[in-house]
Amino acid sequence: MQNVNSTVVVLGTGGTIAGTSPPGADERNYRAAQLSVAALLEAVPGLPAGLVCEQVAQVDSKDMGHAVWLQLAQRVSVHLASSQVGGVVVTHGTDTLEETAFFLQRVLAPAKPVVFTAAMRPATAAEPDGPGNLRDAVALAADASAHGVLVVMGGVVFGPRDVRKAHPTRLDAFSSGSAGPLGQLRDGKVSWRREVPREVALGLDWLPANPSDWPRVDLVVSHAGVDGALVDALCGIGTRGIVAVGTGNGTLHEALEAALLRAQSKGVAVRRATRCRDGAMVPRSSDPFPDVGDLTPAKARIELMLELMRSTG
Ligand code: SIN
Repeated sequence: MQNVNSTVVVLGTGGTIAGTSPPGADERNYRAAQLSVAALLEAVPGLPAGLVCEQVAQVDSKDMGHAVWLQLAQRVSVHLASSQVGGVVVTHGTDTLEETAFFLQRVLAPAKPVVFTAAMRPATAAEPDGPGNLRDAVALAADASAHGVLVVMGGVVFGPRDVRKAHPTRLDAFSSGSAGPLGQLRDGKVSWRREVPREVALGLDWLPANPSDWPRVDLVVSHAGVDGALVDALCGIGTRGIVAVGTGNGTLHEALEAALLRAQSKGVAVRRATRCRDGAMVPRSSDPFPDVGDLTPAKARIELMLELMRSTG
């Protein structure tokens, strides 16, 4: 169903979708985040009239930071509050798209759709994938059956909790593992494969206005030969939380676990995640640190940061 009277707002943040390479150069040697979101829209024929666009940031998403997250969440929130707006599209780099999408879902859990899209090939490629993805994202953001933060890539619709970049170069680089995609877009029409969960928003107003005041939360990885030096160093620089990325069901090298127990005894919040790519962790009563369920380590880091802000806010 199309929301024909509703404006779709397209917010640009950079990424390969806005990337360019010099004429004749190997398209793998491009620079991300070069073209404006207005230029991206101009390259997509047949988009509905009345689209509004705004450049919120212009970054290669490997360099994404909390300040852009906050600014983006605020701009999305302002646009969604308008009765004229039916949905928002966010163009983003593929590398950390899943983190930004998860953060926005946790703080906004919007009733209207906020659709992230991206590209694996730069805009100047012989066959760029960005224009098709952007067309799909605009169609999904205008669809009255859509809600919440969604990700659309290559005609597949993913949820913000499950989605991850699963391949470094393939066009179909995104996956939601055993959870499976939420739906599919064909010729601008969405078919849902499963119900999109409705979640409760944490809100935005309580977040510290200066992201440098957000608690520091770090990731450490358990691997053969690891010791506790990194954890001890993180305690020395005032980390507030550590997500320990364990093996299998979150098991940790004994040397790392000993350091994490020392950190926990000093008040650092410790969580266990898994290096495994798929599936949810199963809690065990003997584990000294709570597990993060089905969250990837990067999303578990966001969740712990929000938890720490809520408990001190
Ligand atoms: C980025 O994440 O900004 C660069 C890589 C990409 O968008 O595919």
